[in-house]
Amino acid sequence: LNPSPLLLSDEIQAAKQAVDVALDRYLQLDEGCPVRLAEAMRYSVMSPGKRLRPLLVLLASRLFEGMDRNAMPAACAVEFIHCYSLIHDDLPAMDDDDLRRGRPTCHRQFDEATAILAGDALIPLAFEVVSREVHPADVAIRCCRELARAAGATQLVGGQSDDLQSQNQEMSFEKLERIHRRKTGAMLAVSLKLGAICAGTGEENIECMEQFGKNLGLAFQISDDLLDLKGDQDKMGKRVGKDHSKGKMTYPAVLGIAESERLATQLIETSVESLRPFGGRASTLCDLARFIISRTT
Ligand code: IPE
Ligand code: IPE
Ligand code: MG
Ligand code: MG
Ligand code: MG
Repeated sequence: LNPSPLLLSDEIQAAKQAVDVALDRYLQLDEGCPVRLAEAMRYSVMSPGKRLRPLLVLLASRLFEGMDRNAMPAACAVEFIHCYSLIHDDLPAMDDDDLRRGRPTCHRQFDEATAILAGDALIPLAFEVVSREVHPADVAIRCCRELARAAGATQLVGGQSDDLQSQNQEMSFEKLERIHRRKTGAMLAVSLKLGAICAGTGEENIECMEQFGKNLGLAFQISDDLLDLKGDQDKMGKRVGKDHSKGKMTYPAVLGIAESERLATQLIETSVESLRPFGGRASTLCDLARFIISRTT
């Protein structure tokens, strides 16, 4: 995998490294966990992902002068939920993929049952970490509630369900947007929201981060669709050209490539503009937003 220049900047590299250390620590499961299950969880989580969601948690927290150590449990929790969603998304019953983050998918490396269970186990682990490590308790409860909602039946899981149901079907643009906002957008939006919540800032700022994240999240899935068409498998670490062959309804399929690119760019411009009141303090967050449409990974 070939990270972009932004992801190699000192600030982002250091944050990513800290995330990896924390993920690794939370994955030290006691001997009650079967060895093969622990291996599969670790294999999937510790593989070279961009860590975009945890980075959004940390950067949102920093914007409001939160300390990384207060936001790190939530940063790891969103990555655990994200990794479970990738493991299950790749299963034969879903997108049936064999390559993820430049490696065989979890069910190819292990077996289907182990992959299902590794995904299953990451969900409660996310909530265990947040409920135990976020302080004070009312902030932990709020984080659990927000994360449960974003990961749940109306958002991530609901979006994934509609995505599968609508394979090989005509679809309105409105329905496609709704799927993208839920299956992908919700987790990016909640990442920014959790960062703000952990920093202890006010409701107005929390809402601002959520709105920023919603635009970002939609742009992120549009760019994922575009990369499936135009991207490089070696850089992406996953197969390309899969959406068309699976009859997936995507932004480029519905709007065309140029219009999808224009829309993604517009969403990022709107989101960056919304951070203008924060001035230079939001510059890394804005860079990360711009990375979403310029990325090749
Ligand atoms: C891939 O997400 C799945 C989508 C929601 C499109 P990422 O592109 O963030 O995947 P990793 O975490 O870097 O592997
Ligand atoms: C997946 O969207 C969104 C998830 C919630 C995992 P995709 O199915 O397009 O993600 P990739 O392209 O396999 O990473
Ligand atoms: Mg999918
Ligand atoms: Mg997929
Ligand atoms: Mg995709």
